[in-house]
Amino acid sequence: MSRVVVTGRIPDAAIEKLRAEHDVDAWDGPETISRDELLRRVAGADAIVSLLTERVDAELLDAAGPQLKVVANVAVGYDNIDVPACSERSIVATNTPGVLTDATADIAFGLILMATRRLGEGERLIRSGQAWKWGMYFLLGSSLQGKTLGVVGMGGIGQATARRAKAFGMEIVYQSRSEIDPTIAADLGARRVDLDELLAVSDVVSVHCPYGPATHHLIGAEQLAAMKSSAFLINTARGPIVDEDALATALREGVIAGAGLDVYEKEPSVHPGLLELDNVALLPHLGSATVETRTGMAMLAADNALAVLSGERPPAPIA
Ligand code: DGY
Repeated sequence: MSRVVVTGRIPDAAIEKLRAEHDVDAWDGPETISRDELLRRVAGADAIVSLLTERVDAELLDAAGPQLKVVANVAVGYDNIDVPACSERSIVATNTPGVLTDATADIAFGLILMATRRLGEGERLIRSGQAWKWGMYFLLGSSLQGKTLGVVGMGGIGQATARRAKAFGMEIVYQSRSEIDPTIAADLGARRVDLDELLAVSDVVSVHCPYGPATHHLIGAEQLAAMKSSAFLINTARGPIVDEDALATALREGVIAGAGLDVYEKEPSVHPGLLELDNVALLPHLGSATVETRTGMAMLAADNALAVLSGERPPAPIA
């Protein structure tokens, strides 16, 4: 029997699956586990099932000890994990791609609608108790039909967002490290362009690339200035891909028309300049937040950990 440490609350089905074979120590406090508590608990662990709120770095790996075999992140994004530090210690790192694709694309498209149709503003107005009535020019937004969606990072979630956009009558351009499957591109009518062209032609720019040194502040003041003044920026990937300070300025000064964010540079803090603005829709990192999706993520993480502990290749290793 191996020792598995789970760093936060995950669905029971996944805990039970792990418990059927191993000794499981799962943090179930109402708050995120403190760093000190985490460093203490991981001592002697053979597997760590981590959440994106926990930093898995050399210090944590060393606190676990040389018997540690796997870090199974319950997220597709793994910027909280020092993957080279895992590799140096022959620890397998895994993530949960695929199972959250649709849920996250739904939230991206929800934000596109919130931003372009001013849904947050409308909701806040009603709740404020302020008088209102239907009017020809009351809370006018922008239509999506015939407009262009620019997808930055055309992996599974980018493609799923593009599928939704196509159903709304949008044209698709994308920027990606590699060409996507030509059948999918043809089906979406999607054209691969570089970032400069994408920013110049898109009415909505939606960010779906992974976060790392190469994508830190990929969208900053210069890129925002290159967008149409009528365009919208959506980010459901990771906060630091967008320079929030530059975004707040661009939104305040009308450099772009609006934005929709599910993730933040210093999460869970939100840039105070964004909180003051009406032309940005703000959600609290809900991309994968459905019962079905979170269960799927936790089960996949459990399968990843179990596979490595039995000496097999996990279903979703981080390349
Ligand atoms: C992920 O899996 O990376 C998501 O951000 C979690 O919601």
